[in-house]
Amino acid sequence: MIKAAVLGFGTVGSGVVELIDINRESIDRRLPEGIEVKYILDLRDFPDSPYKDRVVHDFNIILEDPEIKVICETMGGKEPAYTFSKKALEKGISVCTSNKELVAAHGPELLKIAAENHCSYLFEASVGGGIPIIRPMNVSLAPESITQIIGILNGTTNYMMTRMEHEEISFDEVLREAQSKGYAEKNPEADIEGHDACRKIAILSSLMCGKTVRYEDIPCEGISSISMTDVAYARSIGRAIKLLGISERDEKAGTFYVRTAPYMVPASHPLHGVEGVFNAVFVHGNLLDNVMFYGRGAGKFPTASAVVSDMVDCAMNIGQNIPVRWSDEVMELSDPGSKTGRFFVRVAASEKDKALDLFEGCKQAAPGCGPEDDFAFVTPPVAEAAFAELLKQFSDVRSSIRILG
Ligand code: HSE
Repeated sequence: MIKAAVLGFGTVGSGVVELIDINRESIDRRLPEGIEVKYILDLRDFPDSPYKDRVVHDFNIILEDPEIKVICETMGGKEPAYTFSKKALEKGISVCTSNKELVAAHGPELLKIAAENHCSYLFEASVGGGIPIIRPMNVSLAPESITQIIGILNGTTNYMMTRMEHEEISFDEVLREAQSKGYAEKNPEADIEGHDACRKIAILSSLMCGKTVRYEDIPCEGISSISMTDVAYARSIGRAIKLLGISERDEKAGTFYVRTAPYMVPASHPLHGVEGVFNAVFVHGNLLDNVMFYGRGAGKFPTASAVVSDMVDCAMNIGQNIPVRWSDEVMELSDPGSKTGRFFVRVAASEKDKALDLFEGCKQAAPGCGPEDDFAFVTPPVAEAAFAELLKQFSDVRSSIRILG
């Protein structure tokens, strides 16, 4: 039996321990030796849990037990997760994690330590919850030159936008629902303001180019400014608003744009129908063409399933490193202001003439959909920086949302 330890007995960590028991037969088919969670590290005690006897409070007990070969880090946050992961890898213990914050910040460093110590650092659950996407990026898509990734990468906000689209429900109420379902981060601002999706597109973009795309370099907007009126307008023009992470690389032109922001997605795009807690990652490879990965992006068992798949992989490769192509060389991103796109804009009706004048060729959007004193329109393609300058000339901008496609 391969002995493992779980760091953090929260939503995902408890899911990992339970899943290993529930799906023992399936795991044993892949790993006949079997895997057993010997320790659970948490600050708390769990007197009512069937796993209470495995709970320890001192990380050194795990680190100093030579039986431990695999660690599952589901603590979240940078510290102490970073220090614990580093210490484990330095001792040759493989680490599997769902911690996107840590992977986005220290991924290449931890991968290097793992390689030097003949063990592995795997992070399938850090992007897209239960969706297998890291392994396909790393293995199945390796021969491709990936030129575009568009992802719905945050379950909480997609759940919220979907509920707001189909029902009259307030932002606060739907956020509480997402929290009660175990989708949201401890501090849900990371979901709402787009930071979580931003870290995930940073990880995918890094795997796309093999270098480090720093999430701090990625322009990031969340959904807090999106209103029910915007949602209604989007529906009226055959679109749905989704928080997207987008990465686009053109090697010939030498450009690499990455962004996290809400977009109006057309009904014709496969991402349009991705609703609720589901996430999807749409990838374009130069010869493969389009491929899309879809599944539950958050929640206890879907995320735990991805972590356990990594734990099994590590258990099958003890003493060996499972390579991941991601160096610490920083990838320079293109100036986001030079990126061209179309925008949905809502201004006061009194500024209609100005809109028609400044955005020549713009199309009025869904007249009568919003308040009477609204003028809503879709711009022709315009560079982001030029758009921002033009928008300054209006005195009452009610919303501006990017258009996908
Ligand atoms: N808060 C995250 C989300 C959890 O809603 O997607 C999964 O990473």
